[in-house]
Amino acid sequence: MSPTSKETERLVLRRWRTEDREPFAALNADPEVMEYFASTLSRRESDELIDRIEAVFVERGFGLWALEVKATGEFIGFTGLWVPSFEAAFTPTVEIGWRLARGAWGHGFATEAAEASLREGFVDHRLPEVVALTYEHNVRSRAVMERLGMKTDPGDDFDHPALAGHRLARHVLYRMPSDRWRRSDP
Ligand SMILES: CC(C)(COP(=O)(O)OP(=O)(O)OC[C@H]1O[C@@H](n2cnc3c(N)ncnc32)[C@H](O)[C@@H]1OP(=O)(O)O)[C@@H](O)C(=O)NCCC(=O)NCCS
Repeated sequence: MSPTSKETERLVLRRWRTEDREPFAALNADPEVMEYFASTLSRRESDELIDRIEAVFVERGFGLWALEVKATGEFIGFTGLWVPSFEAAFTPTVEIGWRLARGAWGHGFATEAAEASLREGFVDHRLPEVVALTYEHNVRSRAVMERLGMKTDPGDDFDHPALAGHRLARHVLYRMPSDRWRRSDP
């Protein structure tokens, strides 16, 4: 049974609630948040994504946590562990991902939640490695990966199979093996 929430200094990482649907649809409809995705999401697509995330929590015991700012109670997006559904040289694997509302950028929230998610992956689920992937020019997302101490190798760059021929196809892969994480964990 997966836990229903965990806390960091400034955030609650929790399972999704009905009242998250509206602000999540708003961030998924924001072209700036979705700049490096093939398209923004409709309300229906956004709701379906929440349903899928919740189903994965039940199925696998981990998933993309809804993030709430402790000080305000505000829902700001997600961070957490996910299993890529496509095939590539590095799959099967577990990735770490994040998507925050524009107003929540620039506070270190994604990195804070991701540090807790890496710990969850290595301590609770005993994963041998966690990866992160993004469009090669998604500088903000790459910066989170680098703040986490994840490392990239140009030999791992790949074209995302779901974006074949698309201008956003070229992706970079960052890796964090469990032994390196343990050596760097304070
Ligand atoms: C990727 C994304 C989550 C990164 O958000 P972010 O706010 O840049 O990253 P963090 O939450 O780690 O915040 C880091 C910033 O907060 C600043 N910061 C302020 N207070 C801070 C604190 N107390 N602790 C740490 N950092 C703090 C840092 O200096 C840094 O600022 P900078 O970017 O100006 O250098 C966000 O841009 C996003 O949601 N993008 C759209 C979705 C997306 O592309 N997802 C990835 C797809 S693979």
